[in-house]
Amino acid sequence: MLQLIVCDHYEELSRQAARIVAKQVTNKPTSVIGFATGSTPVGLYQELTKMYQKGEVNFKQIRTFNLDEYVGLDKEHPQSYYRFMWENLFGKVGIEKSQIHFPSGIFQDPVQACNEYESQLKKEGPIDLQILGIGANGHIGFNEPAESFILNTHIIQLADKTIEANARFFRDKSEVPRQAITMGVGNIMNAKKIILLASDKSKAKAVQSVFSSIVDPRVPATILQLHADVSILVTNEVADLL
Ligand code: GLP
Repeated sequence: MLQLIVCDHYEELSRQAARIVAKQVTNKPTSVIGFATGSTPVGLYQELTKMYQKGEVNFKQIRTFNLDEYVGLDKEHPQSYYRFMWENLFGKVGIEKSQIHFPSGIFQDPVQACNEYESQLKKEGPIDLQILGIGANGHIGFNEPAESFILNTHIIQLADKTIEANARFFRDKSEVPRQAITMGVGNIMNAKKIILLASDKSKAKAVQSVFSSIVDPRVPATILQLHADVSILVTNEVADLL
């Protein structure tokens, strides 16, 4: 079931999302949380940091999984998602290396790299709460528009639109990796609860498709209609265009 939550502005959206995450962790301190990268959840991570500093929440016993990583970037690369998570959240709220799981962007054998992440998900899962952003083309994690859904962790070619959108984080477009390793839509759908955040109006069309009642792998986020518990948090700016 999809629930739409309209927030006045980005700060409010970030606060509401932080409340949902904090509630989950407070109710079940050993929760498995699925984290997302991108600019959208940065405000959420700032709010969680504030709550942690005030002693309102702690993350001592959680375990984490991240959605995706660029292929070819090692953990310390300034644009790796691993580093993003340490700088924006993990390093600020006392989360330790032993608590986290990340797909590896550096590997000899792609099949083995994907299988390893799958076994970790199987062993530690299911994810209790999965945080998602959304691409303007409807991607979730790095599940790009395609002719069919891929359920498990896999390597994908990034869509041109995604490479262009993410070029802002690199010196220029040529530096953006062309491939990524990502959880599949099946891994995402296995999460018990999902929150999807969309604050920029460029995402409105993709969000609208999620409510369209047609599940279409060419807009991967449409699969979320089949999930029992999805909250979609949008700003007024996005809601006005739905
Ligand atoms: C990225 C990530 C996604 C993210 C999306 C939107 O490429 N792989 O997990 O949700 O694109 O990013 P942003 O929030 O920066 O718009």
